[in-house]
Amino acid sequence: MCLEVKDLKKSYGQGESRSQVLKGISVKIEEGRMCVILGPSGSGKSTLLNIIGGLEEADAGEIQVFGTQIDKMKPRELLEYRRKNLGFVFQFYNLIPNLTVKENIQVCQYLSGEPLELEELIQTLGLSEHRDKMPSQLSGGQQQRCAIARALVKNPKLLLCDEPTGALDSVTSREILTLLETINKTYGTTMLIVTHNTAIKDMVHQVIKIRDGQIAEDRVNLNRISAAELEEL
Ligand SMILES: Nc1ncnc2c1ncn2[C@@H]1O[C@H](COP(=O)(O)OP(=O)(O)OP(=O)(O)O)[C@@H](O)[C@H]1O
Ligand SMILES: [Mg+2]
Repeated sequence: MCLEVKDLKKSYGQGESRSQVLKGISVKIEEGRMCVILGPSGSGKSTLLNIIGGLEEADAGEIQVFGTQIDKMKPRELLEYRRKNLGFVFQFYNLIPNLTVKENIQVCQYLSGEPLELEELIQTLGLSEHRDKMPSQLSGGQQQRCAIARALVKNPKLLLCDEPTGALDSVTSREILTLLETINKTYGTTMLIVTHNTAIKDMVHQVIKIRDGQIAEDRVNLNRISAAELEEL
């Protein structure tokens, strides 16, 4: 099992204004699967992803990644765990503005003991001709590809993506999804993708829906189609 989350709870705020965002979430994701998390705005998707990624702390519950329990780790251990196992793709890319495409990717390459080959990755992601550009000189889709390259160069076992196509048009979205599909096939990377885009559910192995801080649906997709075949994006 790649990921096992048990009865995860999280609240924000104090006293009267306290609200429970995650009300006991339990999910399991098998290794090598692409999984999508759908749900209305404010339902707790990003909060769940951030907790799994060790960026935020839960109030209660357990998280195991490849059999290692991460919810009770000390900050240093957590840092090491994140560095070794996780890639994170953020909605708004978070590229370093004064580094080139290549340098942005290199920064993460240095953090890994067994990184992927940089040149190969740049080529796979269609970034060859943009390698020496600054993020501000790139289109949204190119920036997103750079952000994905940066998350992937460490060859993470688990890739967490928060709205990877959120800011993109449908043509570029399809391009990014095709890319994620190829990476999943090539490296067996387990992926957890948070999205508003319900069309994506047809191309992944597992579909999880969150409503009001709870799991409303969790099913395996038996009739997957490829990103190229998705009708509307
Ligand atoms: N740091 C925080 N402090 C207080 N409240 C927060 C914080 N982060 C999130 N929330 C609240 O928790 C709820 C869930 O937020 P979350 O970002 O997880 O939703 P989401 O499902 O990702 O929404 P969206 O689809 O709009 O991105 C929201 O009501 C939000 O206002
Ligand atoms: Mg969100």
